[in-house]
Amino acid sequence: MSAGDLAAAARLLAAATRPVVFTGAGMSAESGVPTFRDAQVGLWQRFDPAQLATPAAFHADPALVWGWYEGRRHGVRRAAPNPGHRAVAAIQARLPDTVVVTQNVDDLHERGGAVAPVRLHGSLFAPRCSGCARPAPLPDAAGEPAGPLDPPACAHCAAPVRPGVVWFGEALPEAALAAAVEAASRCDLLLTVGTSALVHPAAEIPLVAARLGAPVVQVNPVPTPLDAVCAVNLRGPAGEVLPALVRAAWPDASAG
Ligand code: APR
Repeated sequence: MSAGDLAAAARLLAAATRPVVFTGAGMSAESGVPTFRDAQVGLWQRFDPAQLATPAAFHADPALVWGWYEGRRHGVRRAAPNPGHRAVAAIQARLPDTVVVTQNVDDLHERGGAVAPVRLHGSLFAPRCSGCARPAPLPDAAGEPAGPLDPPACAHCAAPVRPGVVWFGEALPEAALAAAVEAASRCDLLLTVGTSALVHPAAEIPLVAARLGAPVVQVNPVPTPLDAVCAVNLRGPAGEVLPALVRAAWPDASAG
């Protein structure tokens, strides 16, 4: 990342009044939360996450899928927000009309101080009934599950409880998608962080902003399909680049 690029991005951020911060798995990478593209460990090595995160997989083997998500939830509980999450919260504190839109299902934005992130892919911490869709209580945090684990039964209809995340092939929650499109349509800067921008429709969000003329700034160590629409590409890890960006935009501010 060049000093010139950082300065250019900082000027855009300092001039913004209603930015959108759009985040993906790379945002939580430095917190130790594995992405779908990271190798799986232990028992789960022989499973492909893209095949566990589907309605068909849950239908075929609820205990396998529920156990895998219990393991992911356990991993996220042990993880802590990184300086990138705190920098996002600092942007929001500075510019209260900032909207954070995330594809992540962890809770690290909230724990890092961000307010009301729009969750396009749901949450690991909001299970619901697979039959009647009513919210279900989160089971007590036990130790790391050793493998498949039967999901609890819904208290209303006894169908198995499922993770409250969006699986491959499922529609995004309508209200969240509408809020994200609305924010991207009216933003005056879109900061995209740690996403491969390959999974649609979430990946449309930065494109909506770009099409309507808002500058797009990208934070990612590697090129993505968004490079072409970005005013500035900041190549580097979110946990380093975002605090540097906040410091450069508001030299009097402090950010994680
Ligand atoms: N800082 C910033 N970006 C990083 C970092 C880091 N420290 N480490 C990795 N990245 C980038 C990678 O270069 C990659 O472009 O984060 C991106 C992660 O891409 P994906 O794993 O595809 O994650 P994401 O874009 O969030 O995927 C979208 O797909 O896996 C499903 O539903 C899941 O919400 C997820 C969706």
